[in-house]
Amino acid sequence: MTTALITGSTAGIGAAFARRLAADGHDLVLVARDTKRLREQATELHDRHGIEAEVLTADLATDDGIEAVAARLGERRKPVDLLINNAGFGNKGRFLDVPMADELTMLKVHCEAVLRLTSAATEAMRDRGRGGVVNVASVAAFVPRGTYGASKAWVVQFTQGVARDLAGSGVRLMALCPGFVRTEFHERAGMGTDNIPNWMWLDADKLVAAALKDLARGKTLSVPDPRYKTLMGATKLVPRGMLGGITSKTGRKYGPQ
Ligand SMILES: NC(=O)c1ccc[n+]([C@@H]2O[C@H](COP(=O)([O-])OP(=O)(O)OC[C@H]3O[C@@H](n4cnc5c(N)ncnc54)[C@H](OP(=O)(O)O)[C@@H]3O)[C@@H](O)[C@H]2O)c1
Repeated sequence: MTTALITGSTAGIGAAFARRLAADGHDLVLVARDTKRLREQATELHDRHGIEAEVLTADLATDDGIEAVAARLGERRKPVDLLINNAGFGNKGRFLDVPMADELTMLKVHCEAVLRLTSAATEAMRDRGRGGVVNVASVAAFVPRGTYGASKAWVVQFTQGVARDLAGSGVRLMALCPGFVRTEFHERAGMGTDNIPNWMWLDADKLVAAALKDLARGKTLSVPDPRYKTLMGATKLVPRGMLGGITSKTGRKYGPQ
């Protein structure tokens, strides 16, 4: 029996990872801020799949929260085999509209927490000679798209760099880059979604299934859907200035994903 730790497990993409990994027989460590919701999720997954689900309440925008999760990842007697760094959020508005405190919170959750948790997890995994880390980024990483896209670009570069550094150690790392996914993300950020075309929306369960396949294949970067693979390919052909003009408007009126 292996154990996976998922940050942001209670909603959206994280909840889809939890459902799928529990169905596959993995024990889970569920991380988010809302303890009641975490307990309900743990009970449901235990009852449905017979797996053990631990609850770890932590706010990854705080040092205490990051340290608590890092400590769990470093526990040698209850090893974590797979880390899904998924917790994240969007800030509504363009640069200078968003308070600096909120920008810094985003960097803390998207970058600092991912750095420190990846470090804690991979140190223990390297010693055991096996393990995996999925860092949830976004297709926004590849286009000029505000501070959200910049933080996700960091996640992609960081993950692929560490994957290279740890090649041959038995530890796999992969950056997962979804397009628009129907989750609580946009509502939480107060972003409308009415004008995002239907074809751009991905299903969280299908996204997770494709991501886990890519991880098993040893990919360090996963853009799981053919629609977004095509779009990402097209971005390489469009001059950067023109791309900025298009992508800073597409969906951005309604907020970045
Ligand atoms: N939805 C999209 O279109 C989309 C597209 C590309 C990438 N992504 C990325 O996918 C990841 C998951 O997003 P989602 O769409 O699934 O969002 P979501 O439905 O809003 O879920 C976010 C999860 O993260 C947790 N969380 C938020 N802030 C946290 C914090 N400070 N500390 C600990 N946990 C925290 C939330 O629980 P609590 O509130 O209880 O803490 C919740 O479980 C994010 O990294 C996001 O940037 C999303």
